[in-house]
Amino acid sequence: MLQQQIETCLAMEVAVFSFFWDVVPEAVSRVKTAGGLLLHQVGTLRAAREAEAAGADVLIAQGQDAGGHVHGRTPTFELLPAVLETTALPVVASGGICTGLALAEALAMGAQGVQCGTAFLATQESFAHDCHKRRIVDAGPQDTVLTDGFVLNWPKGSAVRVLRNSVTDGFGTDLMGHDPDAIPREVIAHDDDIPRLRQSTDSPLRTTTGALEQMPHYAGTGLGEIVEIVPAARRLLDLCTEAAALRDIAGRAQASGEGAA
Ligand SMILES: Cc1cc2nc3c(=O)[nH]c(=O)nc-3n(C[C@H](O)[C@H](O)[C@H](O)COP(=O)(O)O)c2cc1C
Repeated sequence: MLQQQIETCLAMEVAVFSFFWDVVPEAVSRVKTAGGLLLHQVGTLRAAREAEAAGADVLIAQGQDAGGHVHGRTPTFELLPAVLETTALPVVASGGICTGLALAEALAMGAQGVQCGTAFLATQESFAHDCHKRRIVDAGPQDTVLTDGFVLNWPKGSAVRVLRNSVTDGFGTDLMGHDPDAIPREVIAHDDDIPRLRQSTDSPLRTTTGALEQMPHYAGTGLGEIVEIVPAARRLLDLCTEAAALRDIAGRAQASGEGAA
């Protein structure tokens, strides 16, 4: 199935691939043999080493602050320096990054860039349902939880960071340890005529109708900084402008320190 998807992408002249979760060496080498650029998102040092050994061009270090599926359990700004030390490849930081300050911190640590999900989910162009975007704007970092309870179309133990909702509240303190085989198949929503099951990983999209509140609303811990839904270009500009201003301040402070010495 995976190899088939890769062949389809290559036939369509896709030039850049981004892989995540298990490192599958045959998949990496197929893309590299075809001349593609391969980014591999990793949540552990072990996966970082495996991805580099398999031939990845860029590592994306994903901390547990990330929205959506979360592979490792290390905070972003602890994992990033560890991955940088482990690899000779360019590294991109991912997880909880929604501000120019976080972008500037990642770059100062040695990252070549950042990967943002939540910050761009709450933009006008994003295909997420408005209810998801609004919840990101209204919520704070204490409103996200890591759970493996939205798992029906994924392997047991796959954790996601989501906004708390009636389903996660129903888990009580048992956010982890859910067995997909033991979860009843209950249709709660539809995308056109495609049924969406309670506790599946499907999040509400513009096209989704039904019990949207019960679906997973993916969000990273940086969401407290997202206070409005803006065009994606504006979000990008704000991130870069803030990071550049911080770099200028740091540069001036360094220059005046050197002048005083
Ligand atoms: C709505 C949503 C969907 C995501 N889907 C994928 C996906 O299909 N594949 C993937 O590798 N990562 C996916 N991610 C995780 C991102 O690659 C990234 O690790 C994460 O968004 C970074 O954290 P942040 O959301 O705090 O910026 C998704 C994240 C979100 C929020």
